[in-house]
Amino acid sequence: MKDEHYFEREQSRVKHRVLERYLQAFSPIIGSAFDEIVYVDCFAGPWESKDKALHDTSFHTAISVLQECRDRNKCKHARALLIESDRHRYPLLEEYARSVKGIEVVTRNWDFTQHIADIVAFAKGSSRSFPFFFIDPTGWKEIAPSLIKPILQTEPGEVLINFMTSWIKRFFDDEDKPFHKLFGRAEVERLRQLPAREREDEIVNVYAFRIREEGGYSYTCAIPIMMPDRDDIDYHLVFGTRSVKGLEEFKKAEDVSIQFMHKLRASAQRRRAVSATGQGFLLSEEEMYHERRFGLLNERRRVNARAAVKKLLLETRKTNYGILYQESMQFATVVESDLREWLESWRQAGGILYPNWGERQRVPHANTIIEVIGPLS
Ligand SMILES: C[S@@+](CC[C@H](N)C(=O)[O-])C[C@H]1O[C@@H](n2cnc3c(N)ncnc32)[C@H](O)[C@@H]1O
Repeated sequence: MKDEHYFEREQSRVKHRVLERYLQAFSPIIGSAFDEIVYVDCFAGPWESKDKALHDTSFHTAISVLQECRDRNKCKHARALLIESDRHRYPLLEEYARSVKGIEVVTRNWDFTQHIADIVAFAKGSSRSFPFFFIDPTGWKEIAPSLIKPILQTEPGEVLINFMTSWIKRFFDDEDKPFHKLFGRAEVERLRQLPAREREDEIVNVYAFRIREEGGYSYTCAIPIMMPDRDDIDYHLVFGTRSVKGLEEFKKAEDVSIQFMHKLRASAQRRRAVSATGQGFLLSEEEMYHERRFGLLNERRRVNARAAVKKLLLETRKTNYGILYQESMQFATVVESDLREWLESWRQAGGILYPNWGERQRVPHANTIIEVIGPLS
């Protein structure tokens, strides 16, 4: 697929990169442990696709990864269910499905909201099936936790949800909009009292928490996807998993995709500057790139994650690195090197020690014990 298919909608390229990168890790792991992988694209499109072959879509991105996994004998069987309610777009989806080789692809011209039970039935082909649900609507009403609960509770299973931050933020003070379905009534009242920036970050946290609760997931994370042409977040991709491995792989996908997003935005900014001024520039795209919003979010998330790790250490006095990793990595944009940096600074200041650190060990492992022996600044 070519990058020009994503011009002026680079956020979709990043969304597809997250999906691709995560499924590339997920497929061989799940393929070796389960009889089949089931990919469900609940809002498939094609939507705003500019490629005749529909390669710039979520369903093609996911199916290509599954095909490659099968070709490399890393999974026995894979099925996909692609759902689209629009009767004009649906024939394109059907035609695409007929062209797919090696994977059973079923399409349905369904309204997602009316077929949740059917979707779950499809996904649970057998007790040895592992479904991955991608829920990517154009609005936000379809992602209400109570509506999608049967999908969330499908076990085993994982979910990736597009949370339309920009829309929700824009209409949040409109009392006629049923935001309580996303957050619960008490939370809506609390969120409405918060200053704008804090509120914007907190609505994602509250939603991710509700997804974790409703689905019985062990971990949820959210990746902020920025608008290509404005210093603002368009949406978050909220992920739910019951496994530490799922969390680890999703964080790797987040890291890769965020770097990719900044590169794409830098190119988009340069393109626009060239077309606006009609001249070339001496500085590189990276040198000219400007953003503030992501940096602010990252700063706040790191402060919050560090505080959460500190609290856990002070409460338990002795824990292992795996526990701290699981706690801190659920904060968007926080990466493992952040956690290691905080621990190292506490160790150097005499606040913690590692009683079971091995002679040749260079970095903490999941079972590395961390003991609090002094104050943590
Ligand atoms: C954001 S687009 C999906 C984009 C696609 N996942 C991708 O990344 O390439 C949402 C799609 O869902 C479809 N849609 C909207 N409401 C729906 C519903 N209730 N049930 C099923 N599909 C719906 C729209 O027609 C549109 O094609």
